[in-house]
Amino acid sequence: MKKIVIAIDGYSSCGKSTTAKAVAAELGYAYIDTGAMYRAVTLYLLEHDIAFDNLPQVEQALHEMHISFKRNRKTGRNELCLDGQIREDEIRQMRISNLVSEVSSIPAVRHAMVAQQQRMGRKRGVVMDGRDIGTTVFPDAEVKVFMTAEVLTRAERRQEELAVKGEQVAVEEIVENLRKRDHLDSTRTESPLRRATDAVLLDTTHMMIDEQVDFVLERVSATLFAL
Ligand code: DC
Repeated sequence: MKKIVIAIDGYSSCGKSTTAKAVAAELGYAYIDTGAMYRAVTLYLLEHDIAFDNLPQVEQALHEMHISFKRNRKTGRNELCLDGQIREDEIRQMRISNLVSEVSSIPAVRHAMVAQQQRMGRKRGVVMDGRDIGTTVFPDAEVKVFMTAEVLTRAERRQEELAVKGEQVAVEEIVENLRKRDHLDSTRTESPLRRATDAVLLDTTHMMIDEQVDFVLERVSATLFAL
């Protein structure tokens, strides 16, 4: 069976990664969470005291840092590694969420991440989620989905995820973070968040995860059938 690229883009916290992970597992494809990569760059710059506007140092850091994914055999999940260390928990914290959109708007950061993502998906057989997969990273992706949901629903889902990890955050704070990130992500000059003209829209406000997964899998089947 021919292997394809499935691009899942959309706003923060509308279920992209949960859906993408399940679709990848169902198809036996690799799953790549590109947001985790931008989060890792943010963590690296913070830990090395590099100011986001110090371009030479940011560029040097991009050469030096090593971002990869490692499969956790127990959970079956792909975990983000920064310089060989699993940093999944740290990159999901609110302090990173509050700064990641600023870091991901730096053109040098985007160029480095996009190039790495294209290398990771060059053999196809991947599900990639992010903001610019269908527009910039893989404009030739065979299946493109653009996900959205009402902001309060997204904030409540995010609050639950953070609570599971022991971080209690008020829903209002999360709403503010999501609004700010959506704005920064969609207005930056370099590959802004926008729906590719050939992406199918998926509003998950009133959907359960299984329905979202089925929706994408149906698109995949139809695409593979037509190839
Ligand atoms: O998917 P996420 O919320 O973990 O992503 C974190 C941030 O990274 C998000 O606010 C925007 C940025 N991002 C991006 O600019 N391009 C991508 N392909 C993925 C994420």
